[in-house]
Amino acid sequence: MIMPNKNYSTHNKLNVSMRILLVSIGMVLLAACTSSNTDSENDGLLPPISGGPYSEAPSADDEPIPELASFNTLDNLQLVRDPGERLPVKVIVELTDEDFEAGPLAAEITVPPDVNPEENAVPYFENLTDQIVVAGEILEVLFKPIDPDPIDPENSVPGMFPQELAPGAVFEDNRDGTKTYRWQPLQNDVGINEFTVVAIDPQNSQYRSSRTIRIKVTMPDDPSTIPNVAPILDDVLSYTARVNDPVVLEVKGIDYNGTVPTLELDSDLPGASFLQHPRYEEVFVLKFTPDTVGELDIDIIARDAIDPSLSTINTVTINVLPADAFARSGERLRTLAANRNIRFGFASLQDFYHRPDGGIYADIAASEFDTVTPENSMKMSHMNPLKGRYQFADTDNLINFANLHDLDVHGHTLVWHRQLPDWILAEPLTTIEGHMREYIVRVMDRYKSDIKLWDVVNEPVDDNGGLRDSIWFNAMGEQYIDIAFKQAELLDPTATLLLNEFDIAVNGPKADTFFELLDNLIEREVPLDGIGFQMHLFTSFDQFDEARANFQKIADRNLDIYITELDISLAEGADYEAQAQAYQQILELCLEQPRCVSIQTWGFTDQYSFRKIYEPLLFDAAYQAKPAYGALQSTLSGL
Ligand code: XIL
Repeated sequence: MIMPNKNYSTHNKLNVSMRILLVSIGMVLLAACTSSNTDSENDGLLPPISGGPYSEAPSADDEPIPELASFNTLDNLQLVRDPGERLPVKVIVELTDEDFEAGPLAAEITVPPDVNPEENAVPYFENLTDQIVVAGEILEVLFKPIDPDPIDPENSVPGMFPQELAPGAVFEDNRDGTKTYRWQPLQNDVGINEFTVVAIDPQNSQYRSSRTIRIKVTMPDDPSTIPNVAPILDDVLSYTARVNDPVVLEVKGIDYNGTVPTLELDSDLPGASFLQHPRYEEVFVLKFTPDTVGELDIDIIARDAIDPSLSTINTVTINVLPADAFARSGERLRTLAANRNIRFGFASLQDFYHRPDGGIYADIAASEFDTVTPENSMKMSHMNPLKGRYQFADTDNLINFANLHDLDVHGHTLVWHRQLPDWILAEPLTTIEGHMREYIVRVMDRYKSDIKLWDVVNEPVDDNGGLRDSIWFNAMGEQYIDIAFKQAELLDPTATLLLNEFDIAVNGPKADTFFELLDNLIEREVPLDGIGFQMHLFTSFDQFDEARANFQKIADRNLDIYITELDISLAEGADYEAQAQAYQQILELCLEQPRCVSIQTWGFTDQYSFRKIYEPLLFDAAYQAKPAYGALQSTLSGL
């Protein structure tokens, strides 16, 4: 068994021997239950889940319902939406007066390995205390960071940066080494609030002290003393759209006084509808089809619910381009890839059909790719956000879209340490195996006729080598991987099951652990069909020889290679040509390796990339094919 990496773990409360003990108890319990499974194919694979159900299965309350066409861009498909109230991803635990009275929080200090706190004391904030303020009044808090042992007193003022500011608050630089937090809390803020500022040691920027103050906001005796402020619109961006495609724009009004603003469309858009969102009261949805090319400025007014004379006007710019502005020469990538016997896929933005550019997004997705991975909608935090509650609409819609355009769907991801809902983190460790297995069963059972390829376990290895600390590992040890794969295999013996990981194309402690783990899994006959190499790279990547060798090591183990999450960010000073070359080299690695069966890019337009600032994808934010696109075309064509 591979030892866990504990270097930076903060969550793990069980020591290794305790964990082994728990795992052994789990194994004995599992061994003790007699299998009720009569299917001989499954005999010996995994006993039935014992002691459950651990949470409620999806019910009729979780079933998506049809969505009216006025809310989305996919006119050729009946889309669905999740019913009822929106489910929160985080379980928000409100702080109470008791928490406030318990006194101020201690600073959280981060000490990098090269710092000795006895020689270099950590910075702190002078005279910082918790605050009480009445809603409507203006609060000012001075943050004065001090370095107790300055080397050069003139130039030794610690730096500082704030965490999230309250709505409408500012953190102003007084230009004398101090900053002032200025905030006028309103009705929405009544209760206990927190504000965190991190102070940075002048000698070592990784040496930090993070201080959270609590601010208690109370209601005034006369609520009419709280000023009524004008509402605003949230997140107004610019978009590119294609003429004659339906445009859908969701706009969200916010009023810090706690009422829901009314939204009005203030531009003349022939045939447009502007309707309240069926799920979110504060959101309105505009739908129209622009039939002329040009830049459209759409004005939207957010009006106060109590005093209609209070309003804000916002302009959303949509650049409507002619259809031929998106034309690509040559053949589509999916066709070229099929000629070379590999699959070519992408990860899909969760609900592209609710965006202004949904039409062009859908068209490129369907014409260029033969496989789609949901970028977020199948992660546990989205799919099972509350214990016993589920959200399936985004995945159901993606599957319908994929079926319509003949794309395969790649399920991502059943077991991962990130994007977990809060509820699972609070469950007792002894139940985690049951929860994990139940989740796999429920998700795969729902989708097994449409999804034949799954990332079963994602990112099990720690970045510094050793297995990654996670609730799954803490509950079951290394065996969690075996159990997850066996459960998936039981559910659908015909599915292709992948282990997905990043940074394993290059040598180092992480790859070492990965191959050791892989050999253990193979020896234990864990039902594994292939390895997913994520490959979120920079253009500076040059370890192609190591990648080639590590691909070969997978092939030598009789497994398929999937490049699952390729994107190549621009390193400093690099241009699109360098990016094109890097894409080409990765593709060549795959083409020359018979066991490399698939390349999938993590999105396709920079507009929606999770690494947008590095412009890592094949299309720019205005959906124009970049040189990397042409490079893949010619490489796939063997030119
Ligand atoms: C990322 C998504 O792209 C983001 O939208 C989300 O906020 C975080 O997750 N490895 C994975 C993917 O396996 O699921 C991650 O996706 C990127 C890294």
